[in-house]
Amino acid sequence: MKKSHSQWSSRMGFMLAAAGSAVGLGNIWKFPYMAGEMGGSAFVLTYLLFMFVIGLPILVLEWLIGRRGQKNPIHTMEDVAVSEGRSKLWRWVGIIGVLGSFLILSFYSVIGGWATDYIFLAINGTFNGVNGEATGQIFSSFLGNTNSLLIWHTVFMAANTIIVAMGVGAGLERACKVMMPGLGVLLLILVAYAAIVSGSSFGKAFDFLFTPNWSALNGTAILAALGHAFFSLSLGMGIMMAYGSYLGKDVNLLSTARTVVILDVIVAMLSGMAIFPLVFANGLEAGSGPGLIFVTLPIAFGNMAAGSILGCLFFIFLTFAALTSSISLLEPTVELLEEKTPMGRKTATVVSSVLIWALGIACILSFNEWADVKLFDKGIFDLLDYLTSKIMLPVTGLGTVIFGAWMMNQKVIRKELNLSNFWFGVWTVLTRVVIPVAVVLILICGFLPETR
Ligand code: PFF
Repeated sequence: MKKSHSQWSSRMGFMLAAAGSAVGLGNIWKFPYMAGEMGGSAFVLTYLLFMFVIGLPILVLEWLIGRRGQKNPIHTMEDVAVSEGRSKLWRWVGIIGVLGSFLILSFYSVIGGWATDYIFLAINGTFNGVNGEATGQIFSSFLGNTNSLLIWHTVFMAANTIIVAMGVGAGLERACKVMMPGLGVLLLILVAYAAIVSGSSFGKAFDFLFTPNWSALNGTAILAALGHAFFSLSLGMGIMMAYGSYLGKDVNLLSTARTVVILDVIVAMLSGMAIFPLVFANGLEAGSGPGLIFVTLPIAFGNMAAGSILGCLFFIFLTFAALTSSISLLEPTVELLEEKTPMGRKTATVVSSVLIWALGIACILSFNEWADVKLFDKGIFDLLDYLTSKIMLPVTGLGTVIFGAWMMNQKVIRKELNLSNFWFGVWTVLTRVVIPVAVVLILICGFLPETR
């Protein structure tokens, strides 16, 4: 049975959907705390470099392969490999990718649920006048409360299901067309607020993020920056390949990728400029780790003028960003089921969501009732994060780049990307040598014991 394949309605719609996937918890939650832990600017500048030199070419390749295959990532990889005279086993790049997005969504949705709940905590004035001990307690009692975690995870997954079930154009694309501009406005309000209320700490935050301080740069920071460039652009998880499969022939991949990378970077930088001035103005710790947004930042909101309103706006911003990414995490699995089973789009979405939701419950329980359940010394939540970001994502990224640079006809790629001799030379060196070596390094280091 052949079902018709959907398409994005316009280049703009596609770009917003891709940017929506890229801009997410990675930019607002993960990037600032990683920058804080790794000493600021050295990490930031390295990350910027990797986004353009490594992230951008892989993004282009994922779209290019997806557009060529016009199917879910697994069968796209298989078909394109066969048409290039290569082994069908290349489908494994697609298999690990789809599996990766499935697993990531199970815990991404749990964090999306936290963000949603924090909107209400902020607006109810829960943080008014709090100190660090109090916000720490709010967060740990929140993590200990299975029911509320479960409710918010369910709400968040339900929102994903509704959007994705509506389809590529009417669901994914339309949701991003509404949420992305909203996100931009909220971010500007938050940065302006930080500039107004934090006084000289605004300049301090700027220096922290951008004035080069190379002494802080070490192997851990470089690898973290590389890994984060992948995560931040949603690479290596079948997502961009799936998005590419809905893409028309007329879209210029390079210029669209450049715009998406720039938008993604701008949001990460501005998020830093919304968060760190408040952190510094309140004498708080920049290097406080994953709790930066859920434990440290609420102290700032609780002690500043109009903090509960701005806190609420901040968590709405975070929820929107998480949602435009989580719908993209759902898409590869849905596309696979829709194409390879008799299920229609709606059933495929509900089935995928329920499976992911169920796995999310295991993540939730790993915070409390199952806290002692450990595999390789990690709880379920940490294990999934480790397995996906440190292993599956680089493996798929490596597979994609090796396939694109060594297995595909380069003349055709050159024509499709419309590159001059010089730029095609740069492209070839990057995709054939620099990127594979860099990714192998991330992979090897992912197996080494954590250094912090
Ligand atoms: N790129 C998004 C972010 O930075 O939060 C999230 C994300 C989406 C990560 C998809 C990974 C992924 F596969």
